[in-house]
Amino acid sequence: MQIQTQVQLKPFNTLSLDAIASHYVRIQSIDDLEAALKFAQDEKLNVLILSGGSNMLLPQHIHALIIHMDIQGIEYLSENEETQTIRVGAGQVWHDFVLWTTAHKMYGLQNLALIPGLVGASPVQNIGAYGVEVGEFIESVQVYDRENRIHHSISATDCHFSYRHSIFKDHPERYVITHVTFKLLKQAELKLNYGDLKNAMGGQLTAENLQQQVIHIRQTKLPDPKEYPNVGSFFKNPVISQHAFDQIAVHFPNLPHYPQPHNEVKLAAGWLIDQAGWKGKTLGMVGMFHKQALVLVNYECATLEDVRATYKAVQQDVFEKFNIELHPEPVLFDANGLIGSHQD
Ligand code: EPU
Repeated sequence: MQIQTQVQLKPFNTLSLDAIASHYVRIQSIDDLEAALKFAQDEKLNVLILSGGSNMLLPQHIHALIIHMDIQGIEYLSENEETQTIRVGAGQVWHDFVLWTTAHKMYGLQNLALIPGLVGASPVQNIGAYGVEVGEFIESVQVYDRENRIHHSISATDCHFSYRHSIFKDHPERYVITHVTFKLLKQAELKLNYGDLKNAMGGQLTAENLQQQVIHIRQTKLPDPKEYPNVGSFFKNPVISQHAFDQIAVHFPNLPHYPQPHNEVKLAAGWLIDQAGWKGKTLGMVGMFHKQALVLVNYECATLEDVRATYKAVQQDVFEKFNIELHPEPVLFDANGLIGSHQD
């Protein structure tokens, strides 16, 4: 384990923001993690856990120890007739892991192919796409609890998974995820309720084809971060009451909407942004992607301030047109490596 100073984090965040970290370390084991946390404590530095950098907004200078998670490995734990349980290091690349499960005839994660990022970040925002959320296939999450200074395992039930949310979002500075334990199916149960996907399958109903079609749909709609630096969906799809929805629907009868439990309705943020005139529109170096308005792109060498100017303008225009507040999905960090507020 080697602590470095004044490290450029541009290659480690998918929005390609120019961000210099005062201290940086890549860790490959639990022992490394403990040593790094001790260093931070001795030096009175805050700690920022960096995973795939695909869901974070970084300022230009960060005075903190960046701990870059690089714990690898896939371990077989147990199996029964229906399921196979495996434990995966937090540093495994998510998409490569999904491809590996399919190649080894373990099913469930195929709808989540091509999502950027690492395995360790997948439970945090309960990544989801095309009718599947990762929490459905997680058995437990192994963590280092910084508050109590112990390693332990949190069951999926105790992770409180919901739409783009888990306890890890409620306690972002408490847990460091080291491994994720998945329970995958030996027989595929294809989830094809997402319209485009069912059509794309062309009658070939296999998990392998499902994965292929998900990859294809994502490649046609979503920008590759290497070409167009981005953090995936920039805003969460807003969930509003049925009553509020009924009022808006009078004026916008085509508004895409998805009924939710507890008399609530989820709206498509991409549609709202598109209708507010932001699809393919830029402000300076930052804009909303021309094929999917929900994705914010850094077209040149934007700083966090440029990004904030654009997303605040989008929020304002959507609010003025629809009276709906959009909430950013990525986590914003301040100059001390702590989580900041999007409102400031
Ligand atoms: N739409 C537009 N214009 C746009 C974009 C979308 O009119 O520019 C409309 C679409 O026509 C559709 C609706 O909005 O009627 C929803 O769009 P889409 O099906 O593309 O899905 P989404 O709600 O924009 C969500 C996830 C994606 C996930 C897809 C597929 C969120 C915030 N986003 O996007 O997740 O891949 O569904 O399941 O829930 C991510 O989180 O980074 C992400 C990409």
